[in-house]
Amino acid sequence: MTRASGVSVAIPEVRPAAPRAPFDPEVVRRQFPIFRAARPKPLHYLDSAATSQKPDAVLAAMDRYYSTCNANIHRGIYGIAEEATAAYEDARRRVARFVNAASPRELIFTRNSTEAINLVAYAWGRSQIKAGDAIVLTEMEHHSNLVPWQILAQERGVELRFIPVTGGGELDLAALPGLLADGRVKLVGVVHISNVLGTVNPVAEIARQAHAAQALLLLDASQSVPHCPVDVQALGCDFMAFTGHKLLGPTGIGALWARRALLEAMPPFLGGGEMIREVKLAGSQWNELPWKFEAGTMAIAEAVGFGAAIDYLESLGMEHVFAHDKALAAATMERLREVPDLTILGPPAAKRGGVVAFTLGTIHPHDVATVLDDEGVAVRAGHHCAMPLHEKLGVPASARASFHCYTVPAEIDALVRGLHRARKVFAS
Ligand code: ALA
Repeated sequence: MTRASGVSVAIPEVRPAAPRAPFDPEVVRRQFPIFRAARPKPLHYLDSAATSQKPDAVLAAMDRYYSTCNANIHRGIYGIAEEATAAYEDARRRVARFVNAASPRELIFTRNSTEAINLVAYAWGRSQIKAGDAIVLTEMEHHSNLVPWQILAQERGVELRFIPVTGGGELDLAALPGLLADGRVKLVGVVHISNVLGTVNPVAEIARQAHAAQALLLLDASQSVPHCPVDVQALGCDFMAFTGHKLLGPTGIGALWARRALLEAMPPFLGGGEMIREVKLAGSQWNELPWKFEAGTMAIAEAVGFGAAIDYLESLGMEHVFAHDKALAAATMERLREVPDLTILGPPAAKRGGVVAFTLGTIHPHDVATVLDDEGVAVRAGHHCAMPLHEKLGVPASARASFHCYTVPAEIDALVRGLHRARKVFAS
């Protein structure tokens, strides 16, 4: 890829992935410095749905960027600036290839999934959605795929409709034809893997029904792209949001993938430097894709780290990562049966990724998490940015264990031990 205006750089082709070693989480874990750090008691990190830990390879790539070619991208006509631009655009290629985008031009770097969804809500939504239109979401959305649409709905007089969640924590797809029936729906927005229930939603089927009703499909892939193979073309998405920090990469970098024709037709989201081709006092012309949506100095080192994280995950094999997540979820659910008064939220293990949220009798999830922390076990407790889902399930909050490629069975043992202890502490 070369830039349309300003400095033109030849971007190196993505290198083929290195041959894979057999997947062994104990070996993987040793490649994450946080688990090698000396501390009074071992860290049992079961909060990867909130953010993942970072392997040496990602930290080294970012350090290398800052140590050898730190410069602003797309601007300087000197050596390290061209190297920095090449590293940034090479990262884009890797991220785009990882989700099987038709072209890196379809891949916009953002700060995170939330910003990617807001980009769609502002640039596409404000230009395409009018009073009387409707948007279909689900009751299991993270606030990031709910609040931007509520703001748009209030502003434009748009109706929000919701695919219900069943008592078993799955989407009630029988409701979808009725929600789409009047032809007013312009967008269906759905989470791929729920950050609370772990439910893996049938995205291809939802996309098929949305398209049959002339609606577009936006996928919140925050919990899926980091954990399982995702192919935007096979799924039939129109927009997809995901983030680097849950994918073993740094914070501050995420991505919006969208079909090129949609991006071409959309007005910019943020205005400023770099997203323009020409500026006159009377007005401006926009840059070509993807830079039309990347205003100002971007998170360059973070993009490099994002690309390195993808290389690392590809070296493990996403099918192995997902199988590991699923096996841990199944093992955790089995082990949690031995804890009295514990209720698991969501579907059977076969229908979920590496997320297990639960309640423990009447003990508040914050108290559960505090006792677990004493045991060195890190879980998230609260509403997990999904308050309407918790309301639907009839619980104000839950505790949640979530996994990644470095999670090992001893951490599940520590979780179960800690939960028994929480029961004892709060029984007295
Ligand atoms: N969305 C993240 C979580 O579920 C922050 O914890």
